[in-house]
Amino acid sequence: MGLFRKKETGERAAAVMPRHIAVIMDGNGRWARKRGLPRGVGHSAGAEAFRTLVRYCDSLGIEQLTVFAFSTENWKRPQDEVDDIMDLLRKYLRDCCTQLAKENFRLRFLGDLDRLPEDIRELIARNRVISETCTGIIVNVCVNYGGRLDVVRAAQKLAGQVAAGELSAGEIDEDVFSRALWTGGLPDPDLVIRTGAESRLSNFLLWQSAYSELYFTDTLFPDFTPRRLDEALRWYAGRNRRFGGVKA
Ligand code: IPE
Ligand code: IPE
Ligand code: MG
Repeated sequence: MGLFRKKETGERAAAVMPRHIAVIMDGNGRWARKRGLPRGVGHSAGAEAFRTLVRYCDSLGIEQLTVFAFSTENWKRPQDEVDDIMDLLRKYLRDCCTQLAKENFRLRFLGDLDRLPEDIRELIARNRVISETCTGIIVNVCVNYGGRLDVVRAAQKLAGQVAAGELSAGEIDEDVFSRALWTGGLPDPDLVIRTGAESRLSNFLLWQSAYSELYFTDTLFPDFTPRRLDEALRWYAGRNRRFGGVKA
């Protein structure tokens, strides 16, 4: 496993460890292609890397892990690839129904879930109920998520409340707006990691990452082991987060 000590607590740990890590899990397809395998095999390998990552983050005492699993733009992919990803999601959710309580993770799904197949939506609902009794790391899985859609949906929701007389336009501030997003109530990510050698956000957490530290790595997601996370955490520990102010 990694180099960071398990569940460090105290002031030093708080200063160097992110409370909330977000990961753009990219590079599954290239991982498979390098091995002459179908892209679906890369997605399965990515799902395994994700499980390992959740357990490792939990062991470190990270409070929240948010991962980008499927974007609003990923529907453009060939139908068999979309089907492979949905099948993996099904399998993951079924396994979680039995594993979750044992592992104590709180699993949440963020995004426009209405477009997902009905059986997947039911599995998500079952997992939500099981997760309610868990107390460990909060894992937010973004599925059919787009940062722009998140902002648009929040605007629609708030406009509806204004039209219904429940809210005045002047009451909409950054805090109210944040709470109307799918991530409402979560702290903003301290660290956003993108694997797979691209330096872009690809429509992930646009509002929420305003002051996140952005870490881009060439490692393809299936190869993103706890040791690779340690490297990202060491890099994060060396940042000087000023939030627009001045710090020594
Ligand atoms: C990320 O890996 C997973 C999803 C976007 C669903 P990719 O499938 O994008 O892998 P590459 O970028 O083609 O290697
Ligand atoms: C971002 O990866 C989305 C996910 C990891 C789910 P993409 O592979 O879809 O991003 P682009 O197309 O390279 O920007
Ligand atoms: Mg990609």
